[in-house]
Amino acid sequence: MADVHLNGRKALVTGGAQGLGEGMARALAAAGAKVVVADLQDDLGPKVAESLGAEHGFVRLDVTDDAGWETAVSRAVDLLGGLDIVVNNAGIEITSLLVDLDAAAVRKQLEVNLLGTALGIKHAFRAMRPGGSAGGGGVVINVASVAATIAFPGIAVYSATKSGVDRLTRVAAMESGKLGYGVRVNCIYPGLVPTAMGAGLAYDVARLGLFESPEEAVGAVIGLTPSGRLGEVADMAAAVVFLASDAASFVNGVGLPVDGGMGM
Ligand SMILES: NC(=O)c1ccc[n+]([C@@H]2O[C@H](COP(=O)([O-])OP(=O)(O)OC[C@H]3O[C@@H](n4cnc5c(N)ncnc54)[C@H](O)[C@@H]3O)[C@@H](O)[C@H]2O)c1
Repeated sequence: MADVHLNGRKALVTGGAQGLGEGMARALAAAGAKVVVADLQDDLGPKVAESLGAEHGFVRLDVTDDAGWETAVSRAVDLLGGLDIVVNNAGIEITSLLVDLDAAAVRKQLEVNLLGTALGIKHAFRAMRPGGSAGGGGVVINVASVAATIAFPGIAVYSATKSGVDRLTRVAAMESGKLGYGVRVNCIYPGLVPTAMGAGLAYDVARLGLFESPEEAVGAVIGLTPSGRLGEVADMAAAVVFLASDAASFVNGVGLPVDGGMGM
């Protein structure tokens, strides 16, 4: 069996300044990859990169910005000496009942979660395909959500964007294969993890009156989860390292639930 290590690999992680993305960046580095943290937050992001060590780096990136992606990927290729792993993790969640939708909030979620991931795939393919600035093929891992696989109240638009990420993943794997890019494309469906986003979601669904309290919302999620607990950052990071590694060399075009069974 192939080892789960990433020695010599070069990775870019969007939304790597905090939360799941930070954990993924740390786990990829611990597995041997050189990592560029790409994030809007140019205060926290560089600190994460520095704490990983001198061979890692930070680029400021708004994932909704096509030209920004071109610059970020080119800087990552220069900094790392190539690029063969892109993790499209950056995302936002704006809780709302459908009857109260705010069009600007819908657009924002579509832009960051769906457009941001689509542009990430575009620029990863351009860099990694034969003749690209990196050119050696590689792996794209998109971060969808258990919300793409269940119906949870208060997160309809977020869930729709994550279902979109799921479909993007599958078509991307198909195009990469058909056109000989040598890039595997998979996504993960994380369960609820108490990051800033996850904790905020529990608070927001309670504020909307869907649950008595944030604690009751968390209890409801745990009650739907065969493993009987919330997810941890390390659970998601481990799945990303696995999908990035040669141990997953024949895993392509799938969505991997990392949700303790909640999304069955
Ligand atoms: N936490 C959960 O429970 C959970 C569950 C399922 C899926 N997810 C998904 O995991 C991913 C990470 O979530 P998290 O909990 O770590 O969230 P978080 O809010 O803690 O962190 C998100 C990171 O993305 C960055 N970001 C936001 N918009 C950006 C943009 N336009 N360009 C670049 N960076 C941007 C933020 O600066 C931040 O560093 C998201 O895609 C989220 O939808 C999270």
